[in-house]
Amino acid sequence: MLDLSSFKKQNYTPYETPLERAHKLELFLGKKSPKIYIKRDDMLGLTGGGNKTRKLEFLMADAIEKKATAIITCGAIQSNHCRLTLAAAIRENCECHLVLEERIPNTFDQEASGNNFLFQLLGATSTTLAKKGENTQAIMKKMADELKKQGKTPYIIPGGGSNEIGSLGYVNCFYEIKNQIKTLAINPSTIICTSGSSGTHAGLVTGIKITKTPIKCLGISVMRSKIEQTELVRSLASKTARLLQANTSINDEDILIDDNYIGNGYSMPTPEMIEAVTILAQTEGILLDPVYTGKALAGMIDLIRKNSISSDETIIFIHTGGSPALYAYQKDFHQTLKPNYNKTP
Ligand SMILES: Cc1ncc(COP(=O)(O)O)c(C=O)c1O
Repeated sequence: MLDLSSFKKQNYTPYETPLERAHKLELFLGKKSPKIYIKRDDMLGLTGGGNKTRKLEFLMADAIEKKATAIITCGAIQSNHCRLTLAAAIRENCECHLVLEERIPNTFDQEASGNNFLFQLLGATSTTLAKKGENTQAIMKKMADELKKQGKTPYIIPGGGSNEIGSLGYVNCFYEIKNQIKTLAINPSTIICTSGSSGTHAGLVTGIKITKTPIKCLGISVMRSKIEQTELVRSLASKTARLLQANTSINDEDILIDDNYIGNGYSMPTPEMIEAVTILAQTEGILLDPVYTGKALAGMIDLIRKNSISSDETIIFIHTGGSPALYAYQKDFHQTLKPNYNKTP
């Protein structure tokens, strides 16, 4: 395995995240179920955990090396990435400026729960609302110029922490999984993850390719078509492999994307997402999120039910976190969840 130790890294999780067998989910899915393991990246460090913590370990180390005093990043109005970047900035005594993109017109609510509440509780230095289609890169660049004039040292983290530095976090995750597979003496055929801004998927693919491990990585797209998402992941995986000076070429055939579970669009609830979130909560007691992992698990369940994944396989589902966003979606679950309180006799 190519060594990552030449890259500076902050340590925000003082342990490996568990790779747990989901026996009760398997029982629920019945005879068609493969053996399912869940990589519990929802248990990563920083406020509320989730995949961005792994990316931020490398990104913040780079920011610190560049003597940054102010972190700027962007995301959707319920962005897990913004929550975790803010948490990392607090740890490193940096200011944190958030640019929140209202991707669906008129959905921003200052009083909303979930990550929006946490942006306020954690005390973002500033939050700027960008309307759909506004150029968030340009807004962040302008902000950085202003901060420089004030004598500060800004550092821009791209949306989702998805550049080649952030992706190293998921190369690292794959190395961790590879050791855990060996210890557990299992032979998984497929890793299933959410594919959004693409750093998670790209990092995993890079890890798989440079270690020449015979395992597939299927990304469930939550916003883009298969063609667009394949290009995004391939391009980032190639840059990550280059940063690692790996002698590996990453091609379209290495990138597996399923875009059938997006529904009406990014962050829009689907009945299948609500079912998947409810199933995992009620079988394993594990909380997913409505925008990313809920749709990814909905995809995995559907592929099992359709026999696209067979019962003699072993698969790994990467739980990339995000459960704080659930609290902003409570009303979408009301129709399916009926209170079941016992009355006192
Ligand atoms: C909980 C959660 N899972 C998955 C993703 C997607 O990961 P990536 O942006 O690396 O594709 C995100 C991105 O924000 C996320 O918040």
